[in-house]
Amino acid sequence: MNSTPWWKEAVIYQIYPRSFYDSNGDGEGDLPGITSHLEYVQALGVDAIWLSPFYTSPNKDGGYDVADPRDVDPRFGDLEDAKALIKRAHELNLRVLADIVPNHFSDQHEWFKAALKAGRGSPERNRFHFYDANPDGTPPNNWISLFGGPSWTQVEDGQFYLHLFDSSQPDLNWENSDVNTDFETTLRFWLDLGVDGFRIDVAHGLVKEDIGKNHPDPTGLSNALRLDIEMETEARNALLESVPYFDRQGVHEIYRRWRKIFDSYGDRDVMAVAEAWVHPPVNATRYVRADELHQVFNFDLLTAPFDGNFLFDVITRSIELNATVNALPTWALSNHDSPRVATRIGALESHALALFVFALPGSAYIFAGQELGLPDGELSDSDRQDPSFFRSHGAIKGRDGARVPLPWHGEITPFGFTTGRPWLPINQSWSAMTVEKEDSDADSVLNLYRNALALRAHHLAGSGHIEWLESHSLGAKHGELLGFKRGAVSVFMNLSHEDFVLGYEGQIIISSRGSSADFAQSRVVPARSTIWILN
Ligand code: NOJ
Repeated sequence: MNSTPWWKEAVIYQIYPRSFYDSNGDGEGDLPGITSHLEYVQALGVDAIWLSPFYTSPNKDGGYDVADPRDVDPRFGDLEDAKALIKRAHELNLRVLADIVPNHFSDQHEWFKAALKAGRGSPERNRFHFYDANPDGTPPNNWISLFGGPSWTQVEDGQFYLHLFDSSQPDLNWENSDVNTDFETTLRFWLDLGVDGFRIDVAHGLVKEDIGKNHPDPTGLSNALRLDIEMETEARNALLESVPYFDRQGVHEIYRRWRKIFDSYGDRDVMAVAEAWVHPPVNATRYVRADELHQVFNFDLLTAPFDGNFLFDVITRSIELNATVNALPTWALSNHDSPRVATRIGALESHALALFVFALPGSAYIFAGQELGLPDGELSDSDRQDPSFFRSHGAIKGRDGARVPLPWHGEITPFGFTTGRPWLPINQSWSAMTVEKEDSDADSVLNLYRNALALRAHHLAGSGHIEWLESHSLGAKHGELLGFKRGAVSVFMNLSHEDFVLGYEGQIIISSRGSSADFAQSRVVPARSTIWILN
């Protein structure tokens, strides 16, 4: 194995296959569409791609409802297309991470169909969480689905099955050894096909405790788990302290077993990153202990306000906590489950934050379209497809806004994404944000990202720790200017609404705001922007 594995400080580009590029005019992106645009991805300067699920699926939850984890859904192509994608990515020096979904299958998976047929008490039902109704006919407990509504659905013979998400996503019973064996087969299947690792969906959810008990406050708990609901921090933390279906100790045994599989691929340097929403934050570090996974997502920046003190605290905490297990943090500003960062905190702010985190130690994740500065698409309710919208009867708008397909070229929607009708409408107002337009504009967000990643690779690779610079000593008010030094580069983010004139030696090499023609001469950190200075 190399001394510094490729993933340690990788930049990883998340592709939502349905929204990337449609090669056959059916309105949905597909694997050949990705393969044909990998040069674009490579030119961004990233090290790897993570593909959200493309497996056989009825697609009730964007493919996170898997009916056959070892095959490709026809809407995305076939296994040959997957092989071609991996081959082309490797030719371009891009690693490939697949998304593995071990908490649940789709109700269209043959196991679930067999479980329905086999009836109560059968080994087939034991692969899921089937329970009898309470004597009064109610479900086995009062848990609420993360997509709204009860976590239980009743089948014809009266039994209920557990689903933390949609009713079409029955949870798997990880106490049943068939489940473990099947997932190990799936891991090896994709590794043998050439993938370089995995993003693990709901990594904290596989093991459940106290299924036989009611939760004292199921509504409070379900609100506490939702990012779009405001709640007193103390009340939220108290509810999240112990969730009977999240972050149970048993999950770590599973990842220890998986780690042995990954390591058996030797110098392939296979890696896995956990999606683990856990509380308190220190618990996330357990997933990246030396004998478990390689990375765990840090979701702080998906919800953080553009506030200097807040950002300082969460960044410091993430670096320090990861250091306790000898791991490096991960930074993600957007993904397919959350509002796009430009919509959430503003366009200028999102570019500033991106340039800031690209200089931090650890891995940076970019959600496709973020590099164009895309906001959420504006959708009407009749466009929406997210199950959380339907299960909550419209109370939760859902995640479709972040999943609107990418605009590639031309003046008129759907901007080359498809020759057909895109599965979600692409707003005409995105005409200035196509890849084609941004490619030819030296000051576009796309070129900011390309330049930043090139400078990161050149100046920051292996640079180690950061040293925070006191805002007072720079003449700024606390929280208005964040600065740190890392290796040969000093980075300053101005969070205030005023330009800031910096008394600091060195040459500005990139700025998230202002024309590339003039920042090199200047000492100014414009309002709501980040600059890098070469010392
Ligand atoms: C997390 C995935 O990112 C999300 O898109 C999905 O709905 C849930 N897990 C359930 O698989």
